[in-house]
Amino acid sequence: MTADELRQKYIDFFKEQGHAQISGKSLVPENDPTVLFTTAGMHPLVPYLLGQDHPAGSRLVNYQKCIRTGDIESVGDLSHLTFFEMLGNWSLGDYFKKGAIKMSYEFLTSDKWLGLPPEKISVTVFEGDQDVPRDDESAEAWRSVGIPEDRIYYLPREDNWWGPAGQTGPCGPDSEMFIDTGKAACGPDCRPGCSCGKYFEVWNDVFMQYNKKADGTFPPLERKCVDTGMGIERTVAILQGKGSVYDIEVFTPIIEGIEKISGAKYHQDEITDVSIRIIADHIKTSVFILGDEQAITPSNLGQGYILRRLIRRAVRHGRKLGVERHFLAELAEIVLQMYREPYPILAEHHETIIHELNTEEERFFTTLKKGEHEFEKMLPGLLKNPKKIIPGRIAFKLYDTFGFPIEITEELAAEHGLTIDREGFEQAFEKHQELSKKGADKTFKGGLADQSDRTTALHTATHLLHKALRMVLGEHVQQKGSNITPERLRFDFVHPDKMTPEQIKEVEDIVNDVIEQDLPVQMNTMTLEEAKEDGALAFFDSKYGEQVKVYSVGDFSKEVCGGPHVQHTSQLGRFKIKKEQSSSAGVRRIRAVLEPAE
Ligand code: ALA
Repeated sequence: MTADELRQKYIDFFKEQGHAQISGKSLVPENDPTVLFTTAGMHPLVPYLLGQDHPAGSRLVNYQKCIRTGDIESVGDLSHLTFFEMLGNWSLGDYFKKGAIKMSYEFLTSDKWLGLPPEKISVTVFEGDQDVPRDDESAEAWRSVGIPEDRIYYLPREDNWWGPAGQTGPCGPDSEMFIDTGKAACGPDCRPGCSCGKYFEVWNDVFMQYNKKADGTFPPLERKCVDTGMGIERTVAILQGKGSVYDIEVFTPIIEGIEKISGAKYHQDEITDVSIRIIADHIKTSVFILGDEQAITPSNLGQGYILRRLIRRAVRHGRKLGVERHFLAELAEIVLQMYREPYPILAEHHETIIHELNTEEERFFTTLKKGEHEFEKMLPGLLKNPKKIIPGRIAFKLYDTFGFPIEITEELAAEHGLTIDREGFEQAFEKHQELSKKGADKTFKGGLADQSDRTTALHTATHLLHKALRMVLGEHVQQKGSNITPERLRFDFVHPDKMTPEQIKEVEDIVNDVIEQDLPVQMNTMTLEEAKEDGALAFFDSKYGEQVKVYSVGDFSKEVCGGPHVQHTSQLGRFKIKKEQSSSAGVRRIRAVLEPAE
């Protein structure tokens, strides 16, 4: 069975069971700043799970494009994907555990539908804890469809509980369905949920049954709901008896494309395979982000930043496979062709997708060229080293200052008979991380916080605020004054009107986005002329001497300033505007604080 067939069968089955098909939504959740992307089919349905009536009724079914970037570093193995499709059915106060489980079982096992052998199915249910009792109702429902007791497993909250997304809200136990792949058990404790590969999860039925309160209690919800999710790629892989999602038809043509472009062969050696899988995953995800209803483009913020990382990583792995030319657009065409029916929105964005991929690929080549240029400049000095080893701190500088990937420094080094002190590089890297972490810990150990660390953090926050205000209100915004205590920052700026609550929120969101991206803060020294030419904000002409310090926060902001600043934006915590008021004619004043990150 192919992905197209599974998608269709699922929809048909649930339609037969009285469900209305609703369309999937954008990859960018509406009105939910807590996540960058839609990570499950239930995401766009939260208001209905919370009690609102859905115009299509109380039984719904759909397929939803999803992105999960939490495990992005694991992509390259046989199973991780950043983009996937989720099938889901919902009951809004209609059927509950018994009904949902009966339908799940029928869809999985009936010959008319997936026809999986019943004896290969194991299920898990919530084992209960001090707050919520064991989910005997689900276990009973499984027994009644014919799953024997020894294939019903009781698992704790970390495995069998869903939600709430925030601190409070609808949540409940879930019941997951696994297929036994026939692999030998890895040990006596091997059971569904074990990561050895014996049990393959295909479906999750969530029973939204409680409303978690701020005081930690779980009163029952008035209207109980069911939310289920089945990953298409995983399920198709198991139905086709394939050991990997990359071996099914929603990847094979992309992988063949990569083989053709690079001359490499898949399933030849592991290092090549990893690069091929990373490129295949990342190009698909990039096409979907670029071709989304929200039409995101590469940037240094939020979703755009993830997109940039995906594109650049794909290019980097292309180089590893020996590809020297642009190749993303060619692969994108394959993805566009493959998904044109289930996702017609992609075709609407065809031109933009190709254009943006080419542009970003070019930009990255420029970064690489710059790094190469820096490397060439350093080369005579490096070649003098009798051991032909490049010190770790120099490799780190290329990485940290020029965004030059270590693998590429290594390639260049090899061309000149040099190697890199990888250990020294890792040490420089870790030291850097540690320093940032130490800074962050210190800043937020409540009363123990070092006062100067707090003012440093607020100082960096002031730069972010300044830039965000210019983005939201316009380029007329100019700093008129700044005052920082360990508790808060105060910032005066040119702007004629009172800010609206929406504008305040937008500014906060932009600043918090930058904080979350953990951008590096860098200092360069240059003349004020050069700084301005370079696009740095500098409004205090007369105060500066010949050479000035320019602080840049990633590509987000660049400002002439004496410092000091934090090294990484993640050291800031959460940014909050407390007050916005008039300071004098045409000048507004903002007071803002940094709170510990959750
Ligand atoms: N929302 C549930 C999941 O994603 C169904 O697993």
